[in-house]
Amino acid sequence: MKVLITGVTGFIGSHLINRLINDGRYTLAGMARSKEKCRDLAAKGVEIRCADLVDPNSIKGITQGIDVVIHLAAMMRFHAPWVELHRHNVDGTKVLAEDALIHHVKHFIYVSTTETIGPVTNPPGDENSPYNPTYDYGRTKMESELWLQQQYQEKGFPITIIRPTGVLGPGDHYVSLSTIRAIAQGKLSMMPGKADKYVHFTYVDDVVEGILKVLDNPGVSIGETFIIAGDQYVTYKDQLAMIAKLTGVQLPKRSVPIVLAKMYVKMIEWRNKRKGIDDFFWHTSLVNDMTVHRAYSNAKAKKILGFRPRFTLERGLEKTIQYYKEQHLI
Ligand SMILES: NC(=O)c1ccc[n+]([C@@H]2O[C@H](COP(=O)([O-])OP(=O)(O)OC[C@H]3O[C@@H](n4cnc5c(N)ncnc54)[C@H](OP(=O)(O)O)[C@@H]3O)[C@@H](O)[C@H]2O)c1
Repeated sequence: MKVLITGVTGFIGSHLINRLINDGRYTLAGMARSKEKCRDLAAKGVEIRCADLVDPNSIKGITQGIDVVIHLAAMMRFHAPWVELHRHNVDGTKVLAEDALIHHVKHFIYVSTTETIGPVTNPPGDENSPYNPTYDYGRTKMESELWLQQQYQEKGFPITIIRPTGVLGPGDHYVSLSTIRAIAQGKLSMMPGKADKYVHFTYVDDVVEGILKVLDNPGVSIGETFIIAGDQYVTYKDQLAMIAKLTGVQLPKRSVPIVLAKMYVKMIEWRNKRKGIDDFFWHTSLVNDMTVHRAYSNAKAKKILGFRPRFTLERGLEKTIQYYKEQHLI
């Protein structure tokens, strides 16, 4: 069986492809923008097919001879402009899926996100929770999900939608790095509000196992949507306390009202924007996030796929922090 993975050079994609190489059961192809970045993978026997999501001509024929597509490539940026997010995450997904339809791909696995659900009032949310994305990133993922579901219903296009929660692990240079670095460097001087709402992160190896469960069980997963999440969600305060403990710093004891926290963060956000820095932690949107729950159930994936996450949040953070230290990133 030949599997094409898009986004092999990314955080989750690089873990997934290496897991599949070690597994040895699949013939592997990777879609990437640059062959240079994929030298190691090519040396390990992965066929590299070059294409760019925003160049439809480059996608034509990319799924020829492919049985399964795992579509990870995306613009995974919470504060990117709508037009760019849409070109990558919606238009790019459609062109790729249309190519897969033409070439009779047997299973198209779309890696979406729980950001399509967004905040939930009665945690944990699940696959039946209504769409409520608060970021344009989540809105583009929702649009792709809806379009793919339509292709399944109208044309029998064999799709599965996977929604991981926030993912942490070695190789993430975005959300986790930004958060862990802010805490490790003692930059959080006061806690915004009570920070008593839930947030949910899953270790990358568990996300990879979830994707593998879908890959290995098309009979029960085609036409379905699965949340892939760790067993544990905690409050922002507890998560930040865990990071502080693991990085050996004191978490601030005092808290500041949300309105004031936003005014302070707005200044940093503005300064970063002028310098062209996109630092996830220092955005007013994160202060807003801390006032709502983002916690999700993995019960459906457990019941139908036999998904069993192995990493506690603390263990996942520990491994991630160790990687950042080794890379001199914190
Ligand atoms: N990380 C998370 O917390 C998280 C949580 C839930 C869901 N997800 C979803 O999981 C998927 C992978 O996320 P990630 O964290 O691994 O993202 P990432 O590290 O930013 O990787 C994105 C991948 O997409 C590729 N890509 C970007 N633009 C492209 C284009 N125009 N044409 C072709 N390839 C392009 C990148 O290639 P280059 O190396 O060339 O840039 C890279 O391989 C995404 O769909 C994301 O929405 C992620």
